[in-house]
Amino acid sequence: MPITTKDMLGLRGADAGLIAGILDAAAEMKRIMRSTERKCALLSGKSVVTLFYENSTRTRTSFETAAKLLSAMTTSISVSNSSVQKGESLIDTGHTLERIGADFMIIRHPMSGAAKLLAQNVKASVINAGDGTNEHPTQALLDMFTMQERLGELKGLNVAIVGDVLHSRVARSNLWGLTAMGAKVTFAGPGTLLPAEFEQAGARVTTDVKAAVKDADVVMALRIQKERQQAGLIPSVREYAKFYGINDGVLAHAKPGALVMHPGPINRGVEITGRVADSSVSVIDDQVENGVAVRMALLHLLSERNAQ
Ligand code: CP
Repeated sequence: MPITTKDMLGLRGADAGLIAGILDAAAEMKRIMRSTERKCALLSGKSVVTLFYENSTRTRTSFETAAKLLSAMTTSISVSNSSVQKGESLIDTGHTLERIGADFMIIRHPMSGAAKLLAQNVKASVINAGDGTNEHPTQALLDMFTMQERLGELKGLNVAIVGDVLHSRVARSNLWGLTAMGAKVTFAGPGTLLPAEFEQAGARVTTDVKAAVKDADVVMALRIQKERQQAGLIPSVREYAKFYGINDGVLAHAKPGALVMHPGPINRGVEITGRVADSSVSVIDDQVENGVAVRMALLHLLSERNAQ
């Protein structure tokens, strides 16, 4: 199914056809990435601007790489040395970038809803690269692409997502995306980091990590978001690692050979041991590579939609 919206703001409400279409396009983009030429001209003459109000390594670099592989012009706005520091608003920044010629704006912002606000005020296509605790749709798309690539159909897969669910935009986008694709999703973590909305949305929620990963096809650890923690939500990092970290003992409850995933960046020895992160069942490096393919696919599909 083609993309019909100007923007990609989240996966809440997305249907299986739309997600499958993006994942199919990503498979084609991965083939191009791995070809001798690596590049194609699908976004030739287009301008892609990355506007990140929060730190990033994977998302920002992979969007910029994706745009370059599609032959787009790329501009990276570092908020720390932009006119945002002089008090320029998000909307004024969007208008400025649009007059300079941005066709796409890729935004990461600490406020939930910031990507939507920008999208409502510019003609350019806006892609949400993470807004507060709301959504990080391209992360969930690359997660689903990685699962599909390794395990085949997403429908019926048991996916356990463990960690700081409360603050995780990755958890929310995976909830909407995986549920739409017919996967069974279980979220686990300390009770203080498990919001009620996940159970209401049809997922299983438990504080028992071993029960969560029982018979799982995929075990995904979430980063402890130290920057978003309020005092007292976890007893201590050491106790968190002991009771909620993914280690060999926890993984033994999953299906043999279950995939281990993490959106990154990893706090080694906290939400996942280095040994598990580096093990043969870990696909964390695949997730990073697939991020480029998925972002190429999204830029291409939005560009096709805008050309109509
Ligand atoms: N997974 C993710 O969003 O990583 P970055 O913060 O490095 O972009």
